[in-house]
Amino acid sequence: MTQQIESTDAMMMMRRALAGSVGVVMTMGALHEGHLSLVEAARRENEHVIATIFVNPTQFNSGDDFTNYPRTLERDIDLLARAGVDFVFTPTAAQMYPPRYQTHVEVEIVSAGLEGESRPGHFRGVSTVVTKLLNLTQPTRAYFGQKDAQQVVVIRQMVRDLSVPTEIVVCPTEREIDGLAMSSRNVRLSVPHREAAGVIFRALRTAAQRYDAGERHPVALRDTALTVLASEPLAEVDYVALCDPRTLFGVHDRTDDPMLMLVAVMIGGVRLIDNALLPWSLNERAALSLHLGVSG
Ligand code: PAJ
Repeated sequence: MTQQIESTDAMMMMRRALAGSVGVVMTMGALHEGHLSLVEAARRENEHVIATIFVNPTQFNSGDDFTNYPRTLERDIDLLARAGVDFVFTPTAAQMYPPRYQTHVEVEIVSAGLEGESRPGHFRGVSTVVTKLLNLTQPTRAYFGQKDAQQVVVIRQMVRDLSVPTEIVVCPTEREIDGLAMSSRNVRLSVPHREAAGVIFRALRTAAQRYDAGERHPVALRDTALTVLASEPLAEVDYVALCDPRTLFGVHDRTDDPMLMLVAVMIGGVRLIDNALLPWSLNERAALSLHLGVSG
């Protein structure tokens, strides 16, 4: 039986009654296979599973993006019930941010570049809501997707810096047949734009193939991805970056250490992000949790 919990008080009360390990999957709803893969991992590894659905207003930097964010609550709860989730926590914004709310969590360095630069305030909203959800659900383990790699690095840094007693588990990106990373925003793509979006994965794969063929210079790897992206006239590149996967500092010189390649592209007015660890073989659960961000 899946139980829906709507208030923060009820969530804390329910949590106090649980003995044994608790896995948490935090989402903004509009669930797809990517979210469900996190739920499956949490189900396998914990006695109890809590999923949270909250479209967090403070992490959107455009009112339009917030208003247009897909909301499919009934279907989401149904999917989570079938996936074996015990509790679905669906607080309102008024519950999470009552009048005179004034406390925020800011992870300084790893939040600054990439998504943080294109979306000012985004990670402050994410770190704050994740902190609140961690406090409300007090999980043994919390599951996050590689799809949002910078978010993983920010959360792991925050958990380490604030001594949060939760293990952060990173799960690989789930993809559509053409390789496009699953995302709640994909439904906003028109048919031609959806087709064009396949170029992002091709860019990552082509760079990874060059890496496997021996190329270690970040500039050459970046150029390879940019050339593939330039072949798609509907894709407008925001950034392609090669970074140290733990610190997100840019890598500028040839290195044999693993690199994280991050891409952000606008297609048909929709902002799409994706990433891959190089070498490609590292894009699996154990290696991700080891290489992406700081742990413990
Ligand atoms: P949301 O975009 O709904 O994503 C919820 C979780 O699902 C995140 O950990 C995200 O990385 C993961 N996810 C999304 N697409 C995925 C895919 N294709 N494969 C694997 N995992 C995927 O990320 C957020 O919500 C919010 O910022 C949140 C952490 C809930 C805070 O509000």
